[in-house]
Amino acid sequence: MAANVYSKDEVAQHDGKDGRKVWIIYKDAVYDATGYDHPGGFELIMEWAGKDATIAFDNANHSNAARRDLQERKIGELRMSDRSQRLRGASARALKRGESVRDPRGSS
Ligand code: HEM
Repeated sequence: MAANVYSKDEVAQHDGKDGRKVWIIYKDAVYDATGYDHPGGFELIMEWAGKDATIAFDNANHSNAARRDLQERKIGELRMSDRSQRLRGASARALKRGESVRDPRGSS
């Protein structure tokens, strides 16, 4: 099964406002946190709706149970050209030069 691949712009449209879904990015993957009963309060998640919550999530020292809850909500990954972390070596250098890097899964 091919993973869903989303752009940062698509994720940004899921900002939880006006009944829209609440998506967040964590380490270049995309999670649907809509309706999650967050022990820290849903406002904290809403602050990151549509955005990259990696640093905020890690700074909160979440437990393994919290990480499992997060993983259960994974819906896909960021497209290669919008990723911040996984590219290393030649691909990362090519991106810095402004060249496009082909996503091995074939999406955009
Ligand atoms: C879908 C994403 C998230 C999941 C599944 C999640 C899950 C949890 C869980 C299970 C707890 C209870 C303590 C623990 O087990 O670690 C917790 C607490 C907490 N979370 Fe999250 N969390 C998410 C996103 C966030 C984000 C984006 C922030 C941003 C600041 C955040 C901040 C906190 C804080 C500050 C607490 C502690 C609350 C307290 O002790 O009163 N969480 N979270």
